[in-house]
This record gives sequence, C-alpha cells and structure tokens, in this order.
Amino acid sequence: MIKTTNLRKVYRIGTEKIVALDNINLEVEEGTVCCILGTSGSGKSTLLNQLAGLEKPTRGEVAVRGRRISKMTEKELALFRQQSIGFVFQSYNLLPGMTAIENVALPLTFRGMRRRERLRLAERMLTQVGLGDRKKHNPNEMSGGQQQRVGIARAFVTNPAVVFADEPTGNLDTHTTKEIMTLFLDFSRQKGTTIILVTHDASLANYADRIVTIVDGRVVDDKPNQSLYDAERRQADAEKAWEEDRMPPEGLALLGPGGAEGPGAPTAGEKSQAADPPFHTAEEATKQPSMGGQSK
Ligand SMILES: Nc1ncnc2c1ncn2[C@@H]1O[C@H](COP(=O)(O)OP(=O)(O)OP(=O)(O)O)[C@@H](O)[C@H]1O
Ligand SMILES: [Mg+2]
Repeated sequence: MIKTTNLRKVYRIGTEKIVALDNINLEVEEGTVCCILGTSGSGKSTLLNQLAGLEKPTRGEVAVRGRRISKMTEKELALFRQQSIGFVFQSYNLLPGMTAIENVALPLTFRGMRRRERLRLAERMLTQVGLGDRKKHNPNEMSGGQQQRVGIARAFVTNPAVVFADEPTGNLDTHTTKEIMTLFLDFSRQKGTTIILVTHDASLANYADRIVTIVDGRVVDDKPNQSLYDAERRQADAEKAWEEDRMPPEGLALLGPGGAEGPGAPTAGEKSQAADPPFHTAEEATKQPSMGGQSK
C-alpha cells in the first residue's frame, strides 16, 4: 500500500545540514492504522510530508498503491492527493468563513460533483461524527473537539485510500482524545482506510495496529499492536451477548426451576468468555461516540 525505499531527507540551512530522515524502509499494508511515534524534532512531520507527496525526498523513493509519488510532477501529485488522500491537522485547519457542512463538502468540489449532492454527502458525514445538529455552525462557534470532528468528516468524505493525521489530538483533553481516536478507528474499520497517525503521545499509539518509533530520523522500533479499539469492541460485544443470554426466551419461564439452563442459556464456554474481567463496564462502552445513522 505505502512503501518507502531508502528514503532520505536532508535540509540545508546556509552551510548547516540537517538529516531529517535517514534511510527509512517502511511498508504499510492497506487498512492498517499505523502510528509513527517520536519526540519533537525526530522527523515525524517530515516523514508524513514525504508519504503524502508534499515534499520531494533527497534520495530514495515513496510509492503509494504501486505508484511512485516521489517521481510525480506537481500536477500529477495534486490529482493524486485529491483522489487518494485525506488530511487531519492538529489545528483543524477549517476555513473560518464557511459553515461546518460547507467545510466538509469542500473536497468534493474538485470532483465535479453538483452542490446538492456535495451537501447531501457532507451532511451524512457530519451525522456520522455526531454533529448533525451543528452543520450551520462556523468553526469559531464550535469546541475544539467538535472542530476536529468536522476535520475528520472532511478527511473521509471523499473515501480516500489513506488519511494522514499529524498530532490530531494535540490540542484536546483526554476524554475528547479518546472520542476522536475512536472515530478514526470506526472509519478505518468500516471503510478499510489506511491511517498514518503521527504523534509524540504513546497513549494514542495504543489505538494503532502498528507502532513505528523514530529517533533522529531513523526507525528504531517497529512492532504490531493489538488496538485498544478492537479490545473495547470485543468486550462490549461479549457483555451484550451475556446480557441477552441471561434473558430467557418467552415461555421458557414456564419450565420452572432449571429452565434457565435450557436452550438459549449461555454455554460454559460463552459464560467463561463473558466473565473475563471487563476493560470497561457496559455503561462505559455504550458511552462511546456512535456513528449516527451509519448502516454497516
Ligand atoms: N523546512 C525545514 N527546513 C529545515 N529544517 C527542517 C525543516 N523541516 C524540518 N526541519 C528539521 O528536521 C528535523 C525534523 O523535523 P520534524 O518537523 O519532522 O519533527 P517532528 O518530529 O514533526 O517534531 P514535532 O513533534 O515538534 O512536530 C528537525 O530537526 C527540524 O528542525
Ligand atoms: Mg511535527
């Protein structure tokens, strides 16, 4: 899906040479949520800019879906970005003079879509991120978390192959951060979108399928990760199944004592699975932001 080969980026300021990326060989499979983790100045944004074709490498190559973007002309790159890529920024980058729905609809303009159709799609996206009632609001009439939800709706509205996010929760509190990360994972799991998430915050990495750590422009660690998102979903499902199984089918109560062990009662295996210590209570699990009217 995304592949870099001996990728190197050197910045020159006067006589000074800064090696921002040094020999990066990375391959990210389609549908993966990949976290690039590193401290300030480690080269995260530089890497993201390379993967998105925003800057040319000093040496090496970047290919996305088999297309060598490091060799594309500016015109080809612009088209590639319109068609295949979404961005989410730390500072949201919404246009201040436009409403939420207009901001979300904007990337569709370049697709030659009619205004009515654009607004219809944008409205659906806003509902999915839980902002169906804020569509006429301007960015300065929304909280940071709400603005970032608009940012996410805008990034996914074109159904891109990859979404790049640079510190998307950098300005948000812990609770809102969790909501925003859940939204990213909701979209990725439903649509198979590859997500490259850049951050210095190890707690965000918990949501990723893979964690690539960089120090001074080099990959020092690269490992798969069990996404917290999936663990939470499994737990919520197990609790739901357990609750449902506890309710005897109608009429079963007539069987008297022992009836609850009849058909419909959980098997020993199901019971032990549901009895595992919960990551979260059922109540917490249902508090997760929903995908609105999204049908699976
Ligand atoms: N346009 C540029 N010109 C010169 N040097 C640059 C440029 N962009 C980045 N650098 C240098 O490259 C290195 C990596 O920068 P980068 O912005 O990728 O770090 P980062 O990991 O994103 O940091 P942060 O977490 O603070 O955003 C730094 O030493 C930085 O000073
Ligand atoms: Mg950065």
